[in-house]
Amino acid sequence: MVKNCRLSNLKLKKIFDFGKQPLGNGFLKKKNFNKEFFFRMEIGFCMQSKLVQLIKQPPPKMMFHSKYPFFSSLSKNMQQHFEKTANQIYLKYKRKKNNFFIIELGSNDGIFLEYFRKNKIKHLGIEPAKNVATISKNKKIQTLNKFFDDKCANEIVKNYGKADIFFSANVICHIPNITKLSKNIKKVLNKDGYLIFEDPYLGDIVKKGSYDQIYDEHVFFFSIHSVRNIFKKIDMTLIDALPQTTHGGSMRYIIKNSLNAKTTKNLDILLKNETKLGITSLKGFTKLSNKIKKSKKDLLKILKNLKKNGKSVAGYAATSKSTTILNYCKIKSDLIPYINDTTPLKIGKFSPGMHIPIKSYEKSKKTEPDYYILFAWNHIKEILKKERNFIKKGGKFITHIPKVRIIK
Ligand code: TYD
Repeated sequence: MVKNCRLSNLKLKKIFDFGKQPLGNGFLKKKNFNKEFFFRMEIGFCMQSKLVQLIKQPPPKMMFHSKYPFFSSLSKNMQQHFEKTANQIYLKYKRKKNNFFIIELGSNDGIFLEYFRKNKIKHLGIEPAKNVATISKNKKIQTLNKFFDDKCANEIVKNYGKADIFFSANVICHIPNITKLSKNIKKVLNKDGYLIFEDPYLGDIVKKGSYDQIYDEHVFFFSIHSVRNIFKKIDMTLIDALPQTTHGGSMRYIIKNSLNAKTTKNLDILLKNETKLGITSLKGFTKLSNKIKKSKKDLLKILKNLKKNGKSVAGYAATSKSTTILNYCKIKSDLIPYINDTTPLKIGKFSPGMHIPIKSYEKSKKTEPDYYILFAWNHIKEILKKERNFIKKGGKFITHIPKVRIIK
């Protein structure tokens, strides 16, 4: 049970209590309903490290196991994003001697490292979930199916050497022991190497009220201030931060493995913006709490009204994010009878906690509802394009970002 900051060890200030929540990716069969795991989901803020974090988190092995149902390559947008990112990083950081080596933590099905494999550039993926690691290995991407711990870090240095770049996307925010992790990253990096990572950005969560980014797997909600503090402790310097549109608003952090490295003007501007937004003190989080409560009230109102007027509503995409919304708002199958999804591992199962059936996307398209509630709102462009026929026929989408509304 953590009540203290995972970085500074000081007492956390509670920001919000979401009540009892299941595992965000805990899609389950009917026979397992009575064995389902729940935990009290609360987030806290550390006044010193500036880190927003879950107060308690379920054990990692419950969340990331051999049947982890998240496959990065299912989204076209993410494929494009990672290909572009790989290309940018390689062109910017490759050495003249051409002995570049890149490590990725949480390489999933190989969506990012594919670029390096294709171009015959030395790479190594570390992926603890067996199913996705196997997909990546089958694509001939060099992959270790392991948790990145002290032993794994030592083994990497011994067997592969130190890396020029340590990359990670949507993974570091999942790892509770940030002190140990950051030391292990430093261990496998060259002296002048860089850690480049991206994660959903706290600034976007607060601005958009996207509280569904908060679920069991995300232990940290990073800000630029907090990332700077984490790496300062081990003599690494955050030199720049680059906003990204992925996952509904993310930040890419560039951290040099040296003390007192030169930082950019852009970084200064973004740091000032965070202070203005109020996320370096408790101010911004009072606003966030109010937004979350209002979002719940407005969403329930729309869904209940639609039901009263005889309109049918279904969920679009059984995202992990939707678990927080459904359980916090207590939305069950009387309001949303099913959710469609394209992930084979989720189809035929039920949503965590609220037990809404998950139907295959193809099958569910045969009889469409009047409204879809967009749980994969971070892929809104891709989805509205894909669903232009549904919209043409008068079908509508509901979203809760940046406020609850029917998309016109
Ligand atoms: P994502 O927002 O990446 O999920 P998470 O909140 O879990 O991080 O979306 C991935 C999920 O959404 C995955 O279950 C597949 C599903 N999905 C669809 O079913 N259809 C779609 O068009 C898209 C883009 C995603």
